[in-house]
Amino acid sequence: MSTVRFKLNTQAVSVSCAPDRRLLDILREDFGLIAAKPGCGVGRCGACMVWIDDLPANACLVMAFRLEGRSVRTYEDVAADAASAPVRDAIARCGALQCGYCTPGLAMTLTHLHQQTPRPDREQAASLLSGNLCRCTGYGGIQRSIEQLFPATPPLSADNSGDSQ
Ligand code: FES
Ligand code: FES
Repeated sequence: MSTVRFKLNTQAVSVSCAPDRRLLDILREDFGLIAAKPGCGVGRCGACMVWIDDLPANACLVMAFRLEGRSVRTYEDVAADAASAPVRDAIARCGALQCGYCTPGLAMTLTHLHQQTPRPDREQAASLLSGNLCRCTGYGGIQRSIEQLFPATPPLSADNSGDSQ
């Protein structure tokens, strides 16, 4: 048993637990923050996505001893932030959800990518979402939300195609 102190959304918190207790369980069982969902449990599906020090991380893989002094944000906090509005709007308008189980994790990844400077282009964004799996939508709506949020890569013109012939 040890005590870790970290920032959780807007509050400084401390938790006494086994050092190898998962962040996902701490969030859901100790703080009632259930946007991060249990899925694969091995870092593949993204259902448990949070931000640690503003970078996406799978909460199922983060042990308590790694939290000391860190800043953890969950979708409950990010969704209340006006900066995530374009992503929430794109998910809703484009029908990027069905049962909704994957949606908080998807929104955490999309919001992080959308806030980057410079932003990834459409192809890069789709590729960076490979860690967020969805069992319901067939990805059509998710793809449309990516198209709404991220600019397409401009086609190469004859002048910059690299063809010198
Ligand atoms: S439950 Fe964490 S990545 Fe799947
Ligand atoms: S909407 Fe059901 S898993 Fe993605």
